[in-house]
Amino acid sequence: MSRTVTVNDVQTFTYGEEFSLLDSMEEHQIRVNYSCRGGYCGSCKVKLTAGKVKWVQDSLVPLEDDEILVCCCVPDGSIKLAI
Ligand code: FES
Repeated sequence: MSRTVTVNDVQTFTYGEEFSLLDSMEEHQIRVNYSCRGGYCGSCKVKLTAGKVKWVQDSLVPLEDDEILVCCCVPDGSIKLAI
């Protein structure tokens, strides 16, 4: 399954075998805020504007329906993010 990640409708990359979206975004030199990498600071919150994700770590911060933590998620198919 191809997992394409589009960021702000301008940058696109293919998700590989990284642990999280945060790791993959760093690998592709996409700047995103982060701190704890463990789901409890909320720094890496972004909007998921298309597609679905799987959670690999639990979020410990409140999120709106369209928000995800990139340190805690991997794409489940192709997705679009707004950061
Ligand atoms: S970096 Fe802290 S919640 Fe993702």
